[in-house]
Amino acid sequence: MEILTLGNQALRQKALAVQTIGPEYQSLGEELISALHEQRGLGLAGPQVGIHERIFVVHISGDIPRIFINPSIIETSQETEKFEEGCLSVPGIYTDVIRPRAVKVQAWNEKGRPFTLEADGLMARVILHEYDHLEGILFIDRLSEAKRNRILDKIGKAKAK
Ligand code: NI
Repeated sequence: MEILTLGNQALRQKALAVQTIGPEYQSLGEELISALHEQRGLGLAGPQVGIHERIFVVHISGDIPRIFINPSIIETSQETEKFEEGCLSVPGIYTDVIRPRAVKVQAWNEKGRPFTLEADGLMARVILHEYDHLEGILFIDRLSEAKRNRILDKIGKAKAK
């Protein structure tokens, strides 16, 4: 699987709902998880590999890999937290992002079974980051304009080299 990077318009499109969760989603989920492991990331969303469907995978240390299909964010905490994020689609950039500290998410797994998950800390952060990918949002969009511009400037200069 090829990971698309910043500048690719596919990352900016809103992903479409999965209509029927057939057996092919089990293999797609597995493929996404192995790509995630290969890249040593914490999460990977369909749009990052050119799949315009509402699916993402998350695997954080101490937990099992999880596949989320057609997720909905049911609730987020009022309380926020600042933590350093990176993204496989924005290589080489790591910066603090403010997000809700906890989240309640509802989704379907690769077998088509619905589940609800309450998460906080790193897990909540990765879920919210991956959910953003389904909406065409990147973590740099969550920064102040000045900070985002500094980063885009840095990326532009790196690309020009
Ligand atoms: Ni990302």
